[in-house]
Amino acid sequence: MSEKRATFASKIGVVAAAAGSAVGLGNIWRFPSQTADGGGAIFIMVYIGCILFFGIPLMVSEFLVGRASRANTAGAYRKLAPATQWKWVGRLGVLTGFVIMGFYMVVCGWTLVYFFQSLSGHLYGVTDFSANFTDLQNNPAKQIVWMIIFTLLTAFFILFGVKKGIERSAKIMMPLLFLLLLVLAIRAVTLDNAVQGLDFLFKPDLSHVKSTVFLDAMGQAFFSLSLGMGCMITYGSYFNDNTPLVKTSVQVSILDTLVAVLAGVVIFPSAFALTTNPGTIVDDLVAGGPGLLFITLPELFNQMAGSMIWSALFFCLLALAALTSTISLMEVVTVYLHEEYRISRRKSTLLATVGVIILGTFSSFSSSFFNILDVSSAKIMLPVGGLFISLFVGWYLDQKLVYVQLTNNGRLNFGTGFLKTYIILLRYVAPLAILAIFIYGLAG
Ligand code: TRP
Repeated sequence: MSEKRATFASKIGVVAAAAGSAVGLGNIWRFPSQTADGGGAIFIMVYIGCILFFGIPLMVSEFLVGRASRANTAGAYRKLAPATQWKWVGRLGVLTGFVIMGFYMVVCGWTLVYFFQSLSGHLYGVTDFSANFTDLQNNPAKQIVWMIIFTLLTAFFILFGVKKGIERSAKIMMPLLFLLLLVLAIRAVTLDNAVQGLDFLFKPDLSHVKSTVFLDAMGQAFFSLSLGMGCMITYGSYFNDNTPLVKTSVQVSILDTLVAVLAGVVIFPSAFALTTNPGTIVDDLVAGGPGLLFITLPELFNQMAGSMIWSALFFCLLALAALTSTISLMEVVTVYLHEEYRISRRKSTLLATVGVIILGTFSSFSSSFFNILDVSSAKIMLPVGGLFISLFVGWYLDQKLVYVQLTNNGRLNFGTGFLKTYIILLRYVAPLAILAIFIYGLAG
């Protein structure tokens, strides 16, 4: 392309944008419901293992492929592996982006509904928070309207371009969300019986382990870190030559994991302390369900003075955290269409928007369609994408190029031990573990 590609403006901007992509509903909505479903502490331990052993190395790899090619996901493979079939991995990533947005935007819509219900006082006029959530689930028209609003909002930021739209929003909102979660965590753990919730989160209990815990945790790790579809390839393509890839990956992964665990510390103690059925709470949690966040949190806010204000603030920040994630997802699709088919950015955004709205409409009507999109993206498409990126960087790419990217052309110093570990993780550990977990999980 002759046209000059954009880059992120500042160091903080790099981390903020990548963390903005990673931190979203995956941490605050999906992580707690997966943890509940996976039986608590054991799930979290496996999850953290996945972050360390393939999350971080794969994020470095995606950044590296992005910056080395300065292209969209499919373009990146086309440039680095010309005249091969690798471009299909990039295309799979674009498809995965659509699939994820197809249900994610619906949940984004829910956050807006809850924001306005908090503001209007409706939410704290109801007595049964579970019924309030069921009402929303049984109202596809309402879900569709808010899903469309959220999709258009995302498209609006995409049209503003890389620097202004993405960076600015991420830099302000993320620290605020983090602070608010901290306040809520303190409130939650000081409730009576909160300690049972902390036990559930941190004390391993083998009686609730599922055979699919590895696949579930791995899928969640990919989902939460925005890995396996080329989202971080696309963001890496906006990095400049001085962006430290390893450091950025570690920082983003730490932040992302902190937010997820913090969300758990808010939700589980609240769920245990505020349940009306203490006898069946663990089973209720294991039965999980996407409602956890939208039922338990309003119950927590209800315990606090100024519930409306806390609640409105929380759902507003949550919507913004989700927005920085949907922006990253839509960016992948848009820049792919723009660069590969030479469609204008405007038209590419329009195409992506229409596609997402169609999928989102189906998801709003049918919770099983919603689940199919959720499960097939997190547990199939992302791990497959992750497997291929580890093979691509570990085996296909010229190791000199890998070295140049990791060290910013020799300017950063890593011990040889570190570089070797990275290569071993990428060549052997990540692909074999992903493959094993994948096969074992699908069979189980
Ligand atoms: N990671 C985001 C979240 O946790 C969602 C997301 C954004 C994503 N981009 C992605 C998930 C790319 C998978 C792949 O909410």
